Amino acid sequence: MVEQPMTPSHKPDLSDAGPSTRAVHSGTLRGPEMRPVVPPIHPSVAYLSEDPDDLRAVLAGEKEGYVYSRNGNPTVAALRESLTALEGAGDSVVFGSGMAAIHAALLAVDVAAGATLVASRDLYGVTVSLLNTVLAPMGVRVVYADLTNLEEAREVLEREKPVAVYCETVSNPTLRLVDIAGLAELTRAHKAALLVDNTFATPMLVRPLELGADISVTSTTKYLSGHGDVIGGAASGAWDVCARMTKMAVVVGGIASPFDAWLTLRGIRTLGLRVPRQCATALAIACMLEEHPKVARVHYPGLQSHPQHQLARQMMCGRYGGMVSFELAEDTEEAANRVLSRLRLCLPATSLGDVYTLLLHPVSSSHLTMSPRDRERLGVKPGMLRVSAGIEDEADILADLCQALDAA
Ligand SMILES: Cc1ncc(COP(=O)(O)O)c(C=O)c1O
Repeated sequence: MVEQPMTPSHKPDLSDAGPSTRAVHSGTLRGPEMRPVVPPIHPSVAYLSEDPDDLRAVLAGEKEGYVYSRNGNPTVAALRESLTALEGAGDSVVFGSGMAAIHAALLAVDVAAGATLVASRDLYGVTVSLLNTVLAPMGVRVVYADLTNLEEAREVLEREKPVAVYCETVSNPTLRLVDIAGLAELTRAHKAALLVDNTFATPMLVRPLELGADISVTSTTKYLSGHGDVIGGAASGAWDVCARMTKMAVVVGGIASPFDAWLTLRGIRTLGLRVPRQCATALAIACMLEEHPKVARVHYPGLQSHPQHQLARQMMCGRYGGMVSFELAEDTEEAANRVLSRLRLCLPATSLGDVYTLLLHPVSSSHLTMSPRDRERLGVKPGMLRVSAGIEDEADILADLCQALDAA
C-alpha cells in the first residue's frame, strides 16, 4: 500500500509497496531537473496533469505543454524546432512518413472535393498514386503540367484556376528542376498555394519557403535522417498553415514516434557535412558516366550538358545534389539488372540520401505503379538507373560503378 502523499516530483513512497507496484512506479527518473546535452527520447504517451484547467488549456491549444503524445511530444518538438530553423519557416509538422506529410500538406491548403490541383508531371511515383487513387476519387481535379516550363505553368494556372500547385524541386528520377522563385510568382498572382517536395535538394541546397513557396515537404527518411534507419516526413510553412496540419495529424494520426524523431534529429546534426560530400561525389560519378561507352545519357544538374544547368547554378547554392540518373546504351531492363547484379560495394536498394551509395532501377521500383506510357512520356526508360551518392571514399565508388558497367 502507498500511504505517503506523492512528493512534488511525483515519486510515490514505495517502501511498503508490493512488487507489481514497484515494477510500475520505480525507475521513472522523475526528480530534480537534469539538463542533458543531447535531447532525450521521451517515449511517454501521457503527461501528468495536476490542474484540470491546465489540461484543458493545453488540449485546446491555449497553453504550451504536453498531455498526450499524439497531440505533442517533447522529442518530436525538438525535431520540429530544428526543421523550422533549417527551412526558415514559421513552424514545422513532423509525420510518420514523407507520404503522410504530402497528404496533410495538400489537405491543409484546401485540396478537397471540387477543387483543382495542378501537379508537376515529374513526380515520385507514389505521389502520383496518392493524387490519382486517393484524392481524385474523392472529387479533386488533378491536372498535370510540365512545371519546369514557366510558360506552360502560366497558361495552366490561367486556364485551370487551381487552389494549389504541387512540384518537386529536383524531380525523381529525371533530375529536372522547377524554378521555384519563378513558379511562386505565378502562384501568388493566381492566389494558389505552392507546395514543394524538397526531398532531393534538402534545405542545405534549396529553401523553397525563402523562394516564395507556401509549404516545403520532405521525406526525412532520406538525407535528413541520412542513415537509412528511419521512415519519416515533415512539412514546414507559415505558423497558421502548420496549425492546420497539426490538427490534421492529431485527428488522422500519421504522427512520428519519439524514437524516429530522435534518430532524425541526430541525422540532421551531420547534414552539413554529408550533403557537400555527396554532391562532390555525385559530380564525379556524373563526369565518369558521361565518358563511359556503355552509357547513352547522364542526368545531373551539375553537368554543362544538363538543359537547366544555369538554373541549378542560381538555385542550388553552388552545389547540384547527391543524385545522378543515367541511361544505358542498351536500353533494357535486363541490362540495368546486369549492372545492379555486378555491384560489389554500392548497394542495389530502394532509398536515397543515405551514407551508403545506393542504386535503383526506377521502372521496377519507385515508378513501378506508373503506366508504361506515362513512364515513357516522363523519360523514365527501361535502361535507366539512379545513383544516390553516399559518403564512402569517392575513388572506391567510382571503381565499383566502372567495374559493374564494364562487366555488364
Ligand atoms: C521525392 C520523394 N518524395 C516523397 C517520398 C515518400 O517518402 P516516404 O518514403 O518517407 O513516405 C519519396 C520516397 O522515396 C521521394 O523520393
